[in-house]
Amino acid sequence: MPAKPEPIPITKPVFGQRERDLIQTPLDTGWVVQGPWVERFEKAFMDFSGAGNAIAVTNCTTGLHLILHALRIGPGDEVIVPSFTFIASANAVEYTGARPVFCDIELSTFNIDVAAAAKLITPRTKAIMPVSLFGLSADLKALNELADAHGIYVIEDAACALGARLNGFHAGTRCTAASFSFHPRKAVTTGEGGMVTTNDPELADLISKLRNHGAEATDLERHLAQGGSLLPAFNLLGFNYRMTDFQGALGVAQMERAADILAARRRAAAVYDSSLKNAAGLIPPHAPDGYVHAYQSYVVIFGPRDKISLQHLDDMNRRRNQLMATMEAQGITVRQGTHAVHTLGYYAEKYRLSPEELPNSLMADRLSITLPLFADISSEQQERVVSFLIPGGVNA
Ligand SMILES: Cc1ncc(COP(=O)(O)O)c(C=O)c1O
Repeated sequence: MPAKPEPIPITKPVFGQRERDLIQTPLDTGWVVQGPWVERFEKAFMDFSGAGNAIAVTNCTTGLHLILHALRIGPGDEVIVPSFTFIASANAVEYTGARPVFCDIELSTFNIDVAAAAKLITPRTKAIMPVSLFGLSADLKALNELADAHGIYVIEDAACALGARLNGFHAGTRCTAASFSFHPRKAVTTGEGGMVTTNDPELADLISKLRNHGAEATDLERHLAQGGSLLPAFNLLGFNYRMTDFQGALGVAQMERAADILAARRRAAAVYDSSLKNAAGLIPPHAPDGYVHAYQSYVVIFGPRDKISLQHLDDMNRRRNQLMATMEAQGITVRQGTHAVHTLGYYAEKYRLSPEELPNSLMADRLSITLPLFADISSEQQERVVSFLIPGGVNA
């Protein structure tokens, strides 16, 4: 029997000696909760992104929850959320008691359709939550114009958006506030982890307190100041959404190599782009003018353009699933892009939208394929992936 080829993972974090060294340091100092390393990580994140403030939290989802809570969004309010996203975007809205109002996406970018969002605004709408999906910024310029015209907030789910830029501005810097993720599927990782960014210092201060039980001062501030033996005031109902200093140290090491990781991912994406440009059976991702794609995921749509319609969806979905199963059997890890959230049990039951009501999200759910992409993916590995996707390839 021929030897089975080496499996190709969907992604792979980049860790080296620097990560190993820095993550040890809290063990030596004994300072393991949110402390000096978290503060350095926040600073590194601000330097990298240009955000005015950065507040580290336990993950992107809790970051989104804190933003919504700090903006006093709650029962009776509506937040417009794209229906093609990871479930956490909508869940964060649900936690507050507000209603996530699902909006369809544009298939060409996988991001929220701004014209469709405009039609969903009601007197109850308090915010729009665009998701900069797979590393491509949502159209923040148009979304900000829309939000300004209606006096509502823009809360960016920037989970995937480290390195994403629109007209020169990094994700998370042109909105009321944003939340990033450091889950291992992201370009840089702290295991679990998240970062809230905002250019509003008062909002930043409030979110910073809310993540730490509502305390008016952090442990580190008390430790460094005179009178630290006195407990701080607690004037707010806060949460414990603090990042540990192990994660902060790991985050500092990761931010030192973030530019290199992102550049390597872009080079790998360019290899897919050129290999797949003549593939009649699928549509590769595309960054419109003015956008810099960060390629948190490289997501293609399966199917020739004339078959991407609700009419052909069941057939194309069956064929996509077959292709993914074939690739997986050959050790190539592939995944569907993400979910049409309005079709998932909890949301389908609660809000009773028909799957076809948001057709692009449904098609993206049923037809997307995420290809393996990581900083040190080899050209041989990419050739193996591509061989299943182009005419004349092993699966033709
Ligand atoms: C679009 C989007 N939003 C939110 C999240 C949640 O991030 P976290 O796992 O850090 O809470 C993810 C993570 O995969 C995501 O892709």
